[in-house]
Amino acid sequence: MTEFFADRLLLFGATGDLARRKLLPSLCALDADGLLPEKLQIIGTARSALDDREYRNMARAALEEFLPAERRGSMAQFLNRLTYQQLDASTLDGFDDLAAKVAAAGPQDDDGGLAIFLSTAPSLFGPTIAGLQHAGLTGDKVRMCLEKPLGTDLESSAQINDAVAAAFPEDRIFRIDHYLGKETVQNLLALRFANILFEPIWNAHIIEHVQITVAETVGLEGRVGFYDDAGALRDMVQNHMLQLLALVAMEPPTSFDATAVRDEKVKVLRALRPALASETVTGQYRAGAVDGAAVPGYDEELAEHGHDPSDTETFTAIKAHVDNWRWRGVPFYLRTGKRLPERVTEILVQFRSVPHSIFEGSGAPSGTGLNANQLLIGIQPEEDITLSLMAKVPGLDEGGVRLREVPLQIAMPDAFAEKQRRIAYERLLLDLIKGDQTLFVRRDEVEAQWQWIDAIRKEWEAHNVTPKTYTAGTWGPSAAIALTERDGVTWHE
Ligand code: BG6
Repeated sequence: MTEFFADRLLLFGATGDLARRKLLPSLCALDADGLLPEKLQIIGTARSALDDREYRNMARAALEEFLPAERRGSMAQFLNRLTYQQLDASTLDGFDDLAAKVAAAGPQDDDGGLAIFLSTAPSLFGPTIAGLQHAGLTGDKVRMCLEKPLGTDLESSAQINDAVAAAFPEDRIFRIDHYLGKETVQNLLALRFANILFEPIWNAHIIEHVQITVAETVGLEGRVGFYDDAGALRDMVQNHMLQLLALVAMEPPTSFDATAVRDEKVKVLRALRPALASETVTGQYRAGAVDGAAVPGYDEELAEHGHDPSDTETFTAIKAHVDNWRWRGVPFYLRTGKRLPERVTEILVQFRSVPHSIFEGSGAPSGTGLNANQLLIGIQPEEDITLSLMAKVPGLDEGGVRLREVPLQIAMPDAFAEKQRRIAYERLLLDLIKGDQTLFVRRDEVEAQWQWIDAIRKEWEAHNVTPKTYTAGTWGPSAAIALTERDGVTWHE
């Protein structure tokens, strides 16, 4: 880790969707809580011709739209930190002016540095880095932060990584996966490694299978070009879901630091067995209803934006395997999709049944048998952890002992009611400014992720897999249910 605090943040894509919805609101909220370095200057850059005042106005409108009033603090203080430089990043021309603008903003003190955040189309990553090199903006005190998508397959991702590596060493490259900024995702590590209870039972002897669901109710949200080229596998599984899987399956790291944590995650990602076409399901939504409102089908949304119908999957379910000692024979069922019935991200750990039931034959009526324990980790929208346990139904047991499943539940918002819930990017932007890479994705992780994803896409091609349709507002095509049912497993709903 390179030890410096950034006192200038240079934001590429400063007028874009991510900047308006997440980055500016996160920075403003941090500022309101007094968490930004006092002298931090934020320089926005994008293609639009704006001056500082116009950019601040745009930022103010974004904050008013996307940050709750009680978190805004003194917006004026935050807006004063912002300046703006117009730039066409595809040519070298404007980079000297940009460097002059950055120089005008600092350095504020000798120890300070520059953090650069690239939230632009990946096709601009290469030219942007060339421009930064040309303008002398890649020195020792500069960090580079990259937003997804980092390529569309292993090869294009390696090209991006090579281009960045030509200007920055890995310990100054910060790759975002915003799921790692979510409090509940980090809490997975606390649950597993701050409690003695789980580690001894966290393996194939005691765990029967794991389910990871990332369900969304939204559809295309106007991101037609991007999403239609990507699909659910590359948009959600390649990054967020594989990171969740890695956190569930990793060995205990020796410490909570960037090298130790990422070393363990990458071992899991490399141990993923290539999935067969028969272990995957793909779907594309058709018109239906979500939250009681009628919504159009994916094909209709494409047509509305002047696009032809496509075979892009808006849903995928995969039976994954981690080929190592700990997880031998334990399926990890992954499922994600757009226009599903509810927005929910959760991880279900299904334990095995007790080896012998002492209650069998006690005269208990049928249907009062033992259910195997489950641990349900809610990531969003509910942040809670529920362990289902078997308990005796109170009574005199004349007809035999009756048992019932009861939940042992911790609702995180209640347990930490006094604590502020933050946008995932608040944590990530602060770590970028401080230089802590623990919650950022290392190159070997991204590449192991792509390798597994590319193999699935190859399988789909080889077997001419095309998405089955599902009605918006349902849990995907029926084949997704069959994927688990043939193993005797039911998706948690
Ligand atoms: C993004 C995907 O990475 O994650 C989007 O590109 C998706 O398609 C989003 O909607 C989901 O993020 P969150 O934080 O709302 O679960």
